[in-house]
Amino acid sequence: MELNQRVLAVKPSVTLEIAAKAKAMKAQGIDVISLSAGEPDFDTPVFIKEASISALQKGFTKYTPVPGTVELRQAICRKLKRDQGLDFTPEQIVVGCGAKHVIFNVLFALLNPGDEVLIPSPFWLSYPEMVTVLGGTSVLLPSTEKTDFKISPAILGKAITPRSKIFILNSPSNPTGAVYSKEELLALCAVLKKHPGLMVLSDEIYEKLVFDGLKHYSIASLDPEIAKRTVIVNGHSKAYAMTGWRLGYAAFRDKALAKAVESIQSHSTSNPVSFTQPGGVVALDQGDADALKMCEVFQKRRDLFISLLKSVPAFKPFKPSGAFYLFVDIQGTGLPAFEVAKKLLDEVHVAVIPCEPFGSSRHIRMSYATSEKDIETAVKRIAGLFVKK
Ligand SMILES: Cc1ncc(COP(=O)(O)O)c(C=O)c1O
Repeated sequence: MELNQRVLAVKPSVTLEIAAKAKAMKAQGIDVISLSAGEPDFDTPVFIKEASISALQKGFTKYTPVPGTVELRQAICRKLKRDQGLDFTPEQIVVGCGAKHVIFNVLFALLNPGDEVLIPSPFWLSYPEMVTVLGGTSVLLPSTEKTDFKISPAILGKAITPRSKIFILNSPSNPTGAVYSKEELLALCAVLKKHPGLMVLSDEIYEKLVFDGLKHYSIASLDPEIAKRTVIVNGHSKAYAMTGWRLGYAAFRDKALAKAVESIQSHSTSNPVSFTQPGGVVALDQGDADALKMCEVFQKRRDLFISLLKSVPAFKPFKPSGAFYLFVDIQGTGLPAFEVAKKLLDEVHVAVIPCEPFGSSRHIRMSYATSEKDIETAVKRIAGLFVKK
């Protein structure tokens, strides 16, 4: 059997693999602490579940329109107006089975062979893999601790070529937790405005998880010209603890692009699951108080985690402004990230994500979507392995 050449170049998701290995070890009775999760450890709020349970009981179990129910798309429009001040109509919204699915379909609709996709690094590992499978070329834009893992306008400007098709912006970022300020986004807009053919894909999935009184800004809300060529991607997974529900969406200025994405989806998954959609409506309309509570807990855990890690000099965490990950420089261990992650899982049963697939062999990602007790125990175990006595 001969596989598709582009598929051969794709690596499976390391995050899902490690999370699965940690789960399997737990099932064998091993006391594993998993800091690998890319999902909130909270349960979905009850009122959201009730909306979907009631829909199921009323027989809402058939196909819905491919881009999602009108009710859900209207709720998304209300959300975009409320949070970003942006006007959309339901024909400009496509709901898919999670933001991951929607991003894939948007890239599918836009990319021709050889088109370049500009991706700030470190990056969410799925972006370049999707670009590869779709025949595009990823161009990584470097960033370091010195710029709080944000790219400068100069780096963006230098990377743009006539083949550049899409710039992917992910704020707050997975894996670093970096959050772009309004001024930083405006500076990027100034560069983007010099290149009218360049689209922006703004992945705002961690929008509701921003700390220290900072505010999330969508690049589409800051400049009308950039707004016209920005696709906003967001979803229910992280804000409302709904990862398993598989609801994500994109908002398009260009109705033809929305139609193209809908058409691709109509030939693959069709609609998102029918009975998750009513829950998705109430989450958007009434879920912000719960999202805020979760965000406050994440911030507290972030602070605890960073203060405890001071006892492990070889682990230097970057202080994130959003999401729920610590991006930790492990150069002090003298080992590459894969080795550190392997040692931690095999020897002290702590699951973390090595960041080679996120663009850095000098970092691991540790999720604090877990209890304070687990964070304390994990740091003790890490210290047992990496602090010289
Ligand atoms: C940056 C980023 N974008 C998108 C997603 C996809 O989320 P979902 O498909 O659950 O909506 C994730 C999930 O980990 C993510 O970290």
